[in-house]
Amino acid sequence: MKELEEYFKKISLNREPANLYNPIYYTLSQGGKRLRPRLVMMSTRFFGGDEAAAIHPAAAFEMLHNFTLIHDDIMDNAPIRRGQPTVYKHWNSNIAILSGDALATLALKEMLYTPTRPETVIALTDLLSQTSIEICEGQQKDLDFETADDVSIDDFIQMIQYKTAVMLAGCLKAGALLSHASEADCEAIYQYGIYLGLAFQLKDDLLDVYGDTAVFGKPIGGDIRENKKTYLYLRALQDAGEDDRKQLLHYFSSTNFEDKEKFEAVTKIYQKLDIQKKTEEKIEEYAHLALAELGKISAGSEAGRQEFANLANELSKRIK
Ligand code: IPE
Ligand code: IPE
Ligand code: MG
Ligand code: MG
Ligand code: MG
Repeated sequence: MKELEEYFKKISLNREPANLYNPIYYTLSQGGKRLRPRLVMMSTRFFGGDEAAAIHPAAAFEMLHNFTLIHDDIMDNAPIRRGQPTVYKHWNSNIAILSGDALATLALKEMLYTPTRPETVIALTDLLSQTSIEICEGQQKDLDFETADDVSIDDFIQMIQYKTAVMLAGCLKAGALLSHASEADCEAIYQYGIYLGLAFQLKDDLLDVYGDTAVFGKPIGGDIRENKKTYLYLRALQDAGEDDRKQLLHYFSSTNFEDKEKFEAVTKIYQKLDIQKKTEEKIEEYAHLALAELGKISAGSEAGRQEFANLANELSKRIK
């Protein structure tokens, strides 16, 4: 999507004040997988909408995504993303907060200028706003869970649905709305996106422990260091015997442990309980649920449906 990259440059390169726009340019020009705009474009193509107009919601969602990352890295004390220092490390937290705020607002403005019917612009902007609010709700729960010791697997799934899955679902629904798809089809593609997003976040949590930093672009072990209540941890807690359970609770009660010692102790228990495989099975489960939703869509071609099926497969197997 060359247009997208050109557009990101235009809104942030060499603009003043430099300490507001340089972090935005830095983040947007790093790339990343560009999954969210890809979803908007795939969905627009599938439902037969205006692909030139779809660039606007595609850009808007990618900007909203990048805003969440800038703030997320402050919240998670994360030093590296996409193989480079995070914005708050490269500059400072105040700059990261403000450039994130500006980027979120630019995203909203971008959506408002989608060249389509006024009622569709309203629906798209409402979707982006609602998605943004739900992400904040999910992110707050993610933080609350760091210091809670009674988080259930259901609580966790609901949390990741909000912090991650609603954005992927929203991108897909945006393409459907822009194409004036039926309400039932908008709902089905949204639900496909929710299951895709749940699988996507579980995979992210898995890569945070078992990934290769050079490929993943983020340091390994950040979630364990920060006491993140991931599926890996909660499943281990559920399956552990009394001694291991005590160990897990002990290590997840503080962030003052030596990082390496904590990572080794926790992953030793994960290994014993086969947590990697159990998480992979859970990812497969959500990928299958996503596929089942595709069968409920009445518009679109079989080839298009296959493309969405392949995507669920691709994301479940990703290494970055
Ligand atoms: C990171 O998203 C945040 C999560 C929801 C796990 P991505 O893994 O899509 O990040 P980039 O844009 O490719 O860097
Ligand atoms: C992603 O959660 C959710 C959002 C950024 C909204 P993570 O905290 O796991 O994402 P990464 O691992 O930092 O990319
Ligand atoms: Mg994070
Ligand atoms: Mg986070
Ligand atoms: Mg993560």
